[in-house]
Amino acid sequence: MADKKTDKSRRTVVTSALPYANGPIHIGHMVEYIQTDIFVRFLKLTGEPAIYCCADDTHGTPIEISANKKGIPPFQLISDMHKEHLEDFQAFHIDFDSYYSTNSDENREYSDFIFNKLKEKGLIYRKEVELTYCQKCGRFLPDRYVKGKCPKCNATDQYGDVCEKCNATYSTTDLVEPYCTICGSAPTRKKSNHYFFKLSACSDDLKRWLQENKNLQPEVKNYVLNWIKEGLKDWDITRDGPYFGFNIPGEKDLYYYVWLDAPIGYISSTANYCNSIAEERGDKCSVDDYWKHGRIIHFIGKDITYFHFLFWPAMLMNSGFSLPEDIAVHGFLTVNKEKMSKSRGTFFTAKDYLKILDPEYLRFYYASNLTKSMSDIDLDFEDFRSSINNKLVADLGNFAYRVLSFLNRNLGSRSSDFSEPKLEKELRKKFEDIKKAYSSMNFREAVNLILETGSIGNKYFQDRKPWDLVKENEENAREAVSFCMNLVKNISILVKPILPEFSAKIEKQLKIEEQSWDDLNEDLKNHEIGTAEILVKKIEGELESIAVKDPFAMLDLAVAGVLEAKPHPDADKLLILQIDTGIDKRQICAGLAGYYQPEDLVGKRIVVIRNLKPAKLRGEVSAGMLLAGGDGKSVRVLEAPDSIPGSAVHVNGIEPQPEKEISIDDFAKLMIKTEARKAYYKGEPLKTEKEEVSVDLEKGKVS
Ligand code: MSP
Ligand code: ZN
Repeated sequence: MADKKTDKSRRTVVTSALPYANGPIHIGHMVEYIQTDIFVRFLKLTGEPAIYCCADDTHGTPIEISANKKGIPPFQLISDMHKEHLEDFQAFHIDFDSYYSTNSDENREYSDFIFNKLKEKGLIYRKEVELTYCQKCGRFLPDRYVKGKCPKCNATDQYGDVCEKCNATYSTTDLVEPYCTICGSAPTRKKSNHYFFKLSACSDDLKRWLQENKNLQPEVKNYVLNWIKEGLKDWDITRDGPYFGFNIPGEKDLYYYVWLDAPIGYISSTANYCNSIAEERGDKCSVDDYWKHGRIIHFIGKDITYFHFLFWPAMLMNSGFSLPEDIAVHGFLTVNKEKMSKSRGTFFTAKDYLKILDPEYLRFYYASNLTKSMSDIDLDFEDFRSSINNKLVADLGNFAYRVLSFLNRNLGSRSSDFSEPKLEKELRKKFEDIKKAYSSMNFREAVNLILETGSIGNKYFQDRKPWDLVKENEENAREAVSFCMNLVKNISILVKPILPEFSAKIEKQLKIEEQSWDDLNEDLKNHEIGTAEILVKKIEGELESIAVKDPFAMLDLAVAGVLEAKPHPDADKLLILQIDTGIDKRQICAGLAGYYQPEDLVGKRIVVIRNLKPAKLRGEVSAGMLLAGGDGKSVRVLEAPDSIPGSAVHVNGIEPQPEKEISIDDFAKLMIKTEARKAYYKGEPLKTEKEEVSVDLEKGKVS
């Protein structure tokens, strides 16, 4: 019989979606990385030649703009992020075989290769398009960078792709009264020659693949088939500069759209494994072993279904690669039944979580809730605590400790033979079911069956009463405890894909080598164990404790320079200011008329909220808001005369974690006071690196 471990004739590459390199990993992302990691660990445990490949998704407008905001080149941003992401993944025991970057030589080569293949097949054509362009920023404005009124329902403040009020989809050029979300000015239109991929020509092939593939979730299949039925649109795969991405071959200022080269990152990460990692592990392989002759399994979130079920397979099937054997689609994480939100204190980064809790708790909790389904997963604090304390700790951790410490204390740490044919038969059936549950990505079922296994052990220990037995006949006690000890060993194998550390601790206490799935059949008889130690501890209100984050943290407060100021044409109380925020130039409106002459404001260094939702005030855009104090008689702006535009404004003890966008109501809830020419939040002065913020008022309130 061929040894499974060395039979590499059919290899498997498993992937998770590539996280964007413009932000930290949060616990929502972790659903997917934990899910995939459990699956790959299971495959490896059962001897499958599988590798887990992923990478940072480094291209696109948001990355370029984030880098700009931080005042660093995009290369710096993506290299910093790569480090941070890897740290977080390692801390959560996510065991990638290759964690690469889409901004790599391999990825450029594969992108050009696939682009050229598609071209040869006549699937690429050029077409002139008219796009939204901001003169002031000197750039084309993609969906998220232009807002205006919905062309269908007239709702204000809608993004350039879809209306949140009526769900209509449209292009940026359809928006009524558009404005640039970077600088607030009204954009114009500009023509550009783009490349399109003929997705429509792939409809029949895609349909066949979907219908023939037996692994895909029926719920997903159905609605993808529906998209095909409604007719597929060709895909614009180009973006104009400035854009952080790969140049299209032979073009000067045209780039691949990030979603073209992102999934190709799966292949180039595999190439990275084969070229740079396999060898040191004594493995020899090529990309084709996985992408032409192997199995391809993707894990993704439901929001990126379109890309993975239509664009991506259409690209693969027309460039000589195999199609995915499976694409498992999961739902979104909610926290206490609601969308994660910074202001509610339910947005945790991986790092926030790690400060207070063991990563294996989250792995266990997610596994307990994961099936192969698109339904959302809720991280309910109460449920989390009871799941950890009553299942992980009570049924598994305590059982193991109880058995092993009993062996230590009363039986000289040595096991013996035992025979429980009936129970063993029942357990073997359970192990088979657990294997099936893992194989079908039903981790919830796997956890439940493992917990049942723990309960069988607990009950057996309780029924046999070894503490009584040991008084009469030590060997009878040893037999009973040895059965339980083997069950502990087996539980450590069964739970290993979910809790690798927990398993490793048991192996160490049992003084055994790293186990694989086959070791479920190897009993430890006449075996001497090491010292038992407590494996997991109960938790209290740790999650709640990180949930209380000060709402002040959501502000993106910075110093801005006033460039111009003039009266608002249609509002007596308002002035219109052009300001330099350090990251951009933009327009804001402020209720300062009557308190300042416009020209007195020019040149001042003021304090502004940069992430306030832009609004139109009597026809004029206000992209942000300045802070001013008032005492009922007078209004004075907050100033930081010695700080440069863009300097962060903060208070001691609150680390800024700005939301993407906050509302005026969010801000109104914060009490910022002025006293003796300074501004305070919760008794702490607002300040920059250089100075404390000043205001020409004795006592007042900031609004
Ligand atoms: N960069 C793209 C993927 C490119 S794949 C070729 C992307 N990145 S992402 O960082 O936004 O998301 C990465 C993965 O995490 C996606 O599969 C996404 O669905 C998942 N999740 C992001 N937020 C999530 C939750 N709140 N809950 C569950 N999964 C979530 O999309
Ligand atoms: Zn602009």
